[in-house]
Amino acid sequence: MIIYKSEAEIEMMRKSSQIVAKVLSELKELVKPGVETRELDIYAENRARELGAVPAFKGYRGYPASLCVSINEEIVHGIPSSRKLKEGDIVSLDFGVVYQGYYGDAAITLPVGQVSDLARKLIEVAERSFYRGLEQMKEGNRLSDISAAIQAEVEKAGFSVIRAFVGHGIGRSLHEEPQVPNFGLPGHGPRIKPGLTLAIEPMIAAGHWEVEVLDDGWTAVTQDRSLAAHYEHTVALTDNGVEILTLDQDSSMISAVGGRVNA
Ligand code: MF3
Ligand code: CO
Repeated sequence: MIIYKSEAEIEMMRKSSQIVAKVLSELKELVKPGVETRELDIYAENRARELGAVPAFKGYRGYPASLCVSINEEIVHGIPSSRKLKEGDIVSLDFGVVYQGYYGDAAITLPVGQVSDLARKLIEVAERSFYRGLEQMKEGNRLSDISAAIQAEVEKAGFSVIRAFVGHGIGRSLHEEPQVPNFGLPGHGPRIKPGLTLAIEPMIAAGHWEVEVLDDGWTAVTQDRSLAAHYEHTVALTDNGVEILTLDQDSSMISAVGGRVNA
């Protein structure tokens, strides 16, 4: 069952989501060659708590950290460690918090120093495919219109969409219905209407889409070890259109429209 949110609940989700946005934008500044991924995790956890929130992932199904840090062929759920980022890596940071009972969840993939043209393009396509999907989040459309738009954008670029992981509803739980695949035919699933809150999160690979989970039980990598990228926001459809709740309101770098994009 999909839990549609009232305006008051969406306002709560704006608060949790803005904490996620703030922490991620601060983490961006820390991403450079030589940083240990666990330093990023510690920073994220401390900042979330300072801001009155609780990290959402720690302890979720036994996940051991607050942040997921996935490097190069790692797609999602990379566990922070003493591994150091190095020039030329791409790194995905996935972070979620719960604040006063409501969740926010977002991810970005960043270049570490100078990266290859392929890596840069992969990062851009992950982000662009999110926006193509978001454009379909409008009243009367069906859920799989989002999925199909993401897939089309990714495959147009010659990349592939990961099948084994999907986006999700979000609210008083980190994962609610519906599942939001990043692939599929348009015109299927529930009709989209105001109050729908989703974490839309394309995960894409430069090579093939099959995944493997490493022996740590968490880290998902591409089976062919091709590069992967991930981009995620918590979004809501309100009576005023679609809104990206986890877009950093303080950062002029990310969006000229102040975080509110009307479809
Ligand atoms: N953004 C991911 C998700 O929504 C992060 C989950 S990590 C986990 O599924 F550890 F919490 F599972
Ligand atoms: Co998510």
